[in-house]
Order: sequence, then structure tokens, then C-alpha cells
Amino acid sequence: MAVKIRFCKPSESATDTRIVFAAAGGELIGSGGTLDSDLDGLIRRAITAARFEGAVGATIELLVPHGLKEDRLVLCGLGPVEKADACVFEKAGGAIAAHLRAVAIRAHIDMEGLSPSLLSIEQAAAHLAHGAVLRSYAFDHYRKQPTGTASLRLEEVLLSGADGAASLFARLDAVAQGVFYARDLVSEPPNIVFPQSFVERVRRDAPTGLVVEAFGEDKMCELGMGALLGVSQGSPREAQILTMRWNGAGDANETPIVLVGKGVTFDAGGITLKKSPYVEQMKWDMAGAAAVVGTMRALALEGVPCNVVGVCGLVENMPDGNAQRPGDVVTSMAGRTIEVINTDAEGRLVLADLLHWAQREFGPAVIIDMATLTGDLIACVGREYAGLFSNDDDLAHALASAGLAVDEKLLRLPMGEVYDRMIDSEIADMKNLGPPEAGPVTAAQFLARFVKEGVTWAHLDVTGQVWAEKAGGLYPAGATGFGVRLLEQYIHSTLDL
Ligand code: BES
Ligand code: MN
Ligand code: ZN
Repeated sequence: MAVKIRFCKPSESATDTRIVFAAAGGELIGSGGTLDSDLDGLIRRAITAARFEGAVGATIELLVPHGLKEDRLVLCGLGPVEKADACVFEKAGGAIAAHLRAVAIRAHIDMEGLSPSLLSIEQAAAHLAHGAVLRSYAFDHYRKQPTGTASLRLEEVLLSGADGAASLFARLDAVAQGVFYARDLVSEPPNIVFPQSFVERVRRDAPTGLVVEAFGEDKMCELGMGALLGVSQGSPREAQILTMRWNGAGDANETPIVLVGKGVTFDAGGITLKKSPYVEQMKWDMAGAAAVVGTMRALALEGVPCNVVGVCGLVENMPDGNAQRPGDVVTSMAGRTIEVINTDAEGRLVLADLLHWAQREFGPAVIIDMATLTGDLIACVGREYAGLFSNDDDLAHALASAGLAVDEKLLRLPMGEVYDRMIDSEIADMKNLGPPEAGPVTAAQFLARFVKEGVTWAHLDVTGQVWAEKAGGLYPAGATGFGVRLLEQYIHSTLDL
């Protein structure tokens, strides 16, 4: 359970920890200055002694300072005040939660006197709280024996001096619930979360107003989804297509935005078997689908006033006597044939049928897919940016801006005729693997062949972002929930148009 947030008056209830802030250079700001005078300059002495520079998210702690009723005083850096935006306050909140994780139970942050220039004090408080919530997530479902400090955890953060933050926080709270839902799905082992159990979970937990539907392989056969079915062929677990519809616009005929997620619940590679180590990580090959589910959850909890459909292609990619072979030719629902060169390039096969079906079914103006499609992008740009491919400059720009706003950054990569030629096949309409170069681009070109004329489309390759070996500012090690905040922010940005 993540930390609880309460916006309140100062000294409303007893806390064990008090938080104050410093700007770049270690300058005390807000209530920190007054408190330092009350404590006869103790905090300033600590700043000097610790050589504290006030960098964003840097923390120091003073235990049982003389004159303070709380047991602990934590000083958190905000960096240069004029640059303190929503992302900075989220990082600070995350750093506070990480610092207090296993030492404090109830902490108090007094926002009084902090006067950020880029946002209101209420916004600052709401984002600070949001950061703390996101960072305090833990997936401990399978830990049956408590370890060391695990019994002690931060339960509540109280924020005072920002009356009115609670209403701003409501949206962020919905987002956090979406992020947590996605992280849970991604963290679950592949013997627990597989196509049918994924669907059952989403059905069970659906918020009011979110219409959840799904179908299995019989219907896929009828529809002629040869590309998706080929991937599923080696697995005893039945593939599923899951849809979540949110009609927030009031007008059911308003064309929806469609979000599509790759949901390979385990990617062994198929006959083109992956090599260990790291095969156990392939449970998170459904993180695109999980982000779509999390986004739909957030949008429904918020009651966002537009129509959005989430679609997930859920399937397991396994080796088996009945599995599809490298060299097989399959026929996609769009009628185009695909030579399967490598059974490990399965994500694009799943998405080909899913994109085609979703466009036919929902007639979207905009369709965005999110997928852990290629490892190659990490080799090139690391994990700082996810890959963005699009047939439309405005959509690409809107997505990149949403990414900057929530610090889930996107890097647009090129597409074009030359890359498209690289997936021409000798014997079929196309092949699922190009030459060794430009892997993420040819994967995107493959998907583009299934986007209908006139439809605005973007593909997000998020392989490097959805799982973290080490904790980050807003997440512990493991599933990050990447994509939920980005897509939610993007949907909001379309409302202002
Ligand atoms: N699910 C993988 C992508 C992936 C790679 C996820 C590394 C997590 C870590 C995808 O299905 C895949 O296997 N991609 C191949 C593509 C190749 C066969 C063209 C890859 O990236 O190696
Ligand atoms: Mn694969
Ligand atoms: Zn995969």
C-alpha cells in the first residue's frame, strides 16, 4: 500500500517527521527559515556541516534536534527556485518518500511561505504529494516472510499551507491508481498473468463506466487474424483481445482516440528461442498493454469528457512442436501475407492484426500503439527516451510535449520509403524482420503497413522504460508503469483544443 496523503491545517495531528525545503545553494525557503530561527540556527549549521547544496531531491536528516517536537527533521532540495515546476516538485516528493520509506510513519510538510514562480502553491503541493505516492509503491504480494525493516513503513504524509490542493490532487490520485494498476500487472509472474487471467482481472477491477469486453481464438479465426494466431500457436494458453471503452464525451458517436497495447504475457521467442540470461524478464513484454489498461483506469476514475478506447492483444510466445516456424507464411486480417523470418519478432505480428481490427471496429481519428517492440533502441539512445514514430507531425508534437510535461520523454525517429523497402519479402507481401540495421525503424514500418489511409497514427517503442533494474525518482526497482502518465496527459492535452 502506498502512502496516504492528507491536506490539512498545521499541527492537526502528531507526526514523527517534519520536512522543510532548501533552494539551490542550500538556502532555506518557506517555513524552513522560520523553523531555523526557532531552533537557534540549527538547520543552517547542519546545511554547512553536510555541505548540502539543495539539489533537486537531495535530502539530509537531523535526528531529535533540540527544540523540535518531532523526532526527525528532513531537509529536501528543490534546486533553483525559478526552475521549480511540476516535475521538480514530483521529484522532491519522490525523494522524500524514498528517504522516509522505512524510518518514518507520519510526516508533515508545511508549504506555507514557499512561493514557486512557475506554478501555484496548491499545484506544487499536489505534485509533491503525487511524487511521494508514486515512489512509495511496493509490489510485495509474494513476500510471505517479512524482511528486516519491512514491517515499518511510511503511512501518511500531511501537507499544510496549501488549502485547495485536494481538488487538484484528485486527478493525480486517479493517475497514480492507473500507474499502480499497470505496475501490478507487469510485476506479476507469467504463470499468474497470462491472456485469460489478464482479462479476468481487468473485468473484475473495472471502474464504473468502463465497458470491458474480450474475445478468444475462435473469433480471431473467423476474423482471419493469421498473424496474431501464428504467434499464439505454440502456447496452450488461449490468446485474447481485450477492449475497454470509455464514453466520456456524452456523445457516443464522437470518434474515439484508440490506444493499442502489445500484451505478450511471456516472450520466450518461440522457435527462435531467446537465450538466457534475462529470459525471465520477458514477463514484462505485456507492459504496453498494462499501460493502456492503467491509462483507461485513470481516465475512467477521473471521468474525462471524451471518448477513448483501449485495446490489448494478449498472447504468449512459446516454442512447441506446434509452434510457428521461421519460414512460415501467415495471412494477416488485412489480407496481406507475411513471411515469418524470426519468431521472436512477434510483437509486430500481434499489432498488425490488432491495429487493423481496431481501425475497422472503432473508426478512430487517432490511434496510438505502445509496445516493448525492440531492444535495439536501448543500444542507441539508452533509457532516457522512448522511441516515437508517427505519420503526423502534430500528433508527434503533442505526444512529445505530453512526455516532457510528465517526464516520460519521447524521441521521434525517422520513417520512409527506403526503410519500408527493407521489409519486402521474396515470396510474400512482407517479412517480419529486416536487415540488422535500423531495427526499431523497420519494426515501425511494418506496423505502418497496417495503418489505413487517412488515419493519424503513432507508435511508441517503450522497451527501455517499462522495467528498471534500479529505483528511479518516481518508482522503486521493477515495473515503472511508464506510459500511463504520458497517455493520460496526452488525452488531457486534446481536450483544450
Ligand atoms: N519483446 C522483445 C523486445 C525486448 C527486447 C523486450 C529486450 C525486452 C528486452 C521483442 O519481441 C523482441 O524479441 N525483439 C527482438 C527483435 C528482433 C528479433 C528483430 C529484439 O529486440 O531482439
Ligand atoms: Mn520477441
Ligand atoms: Zn516481444
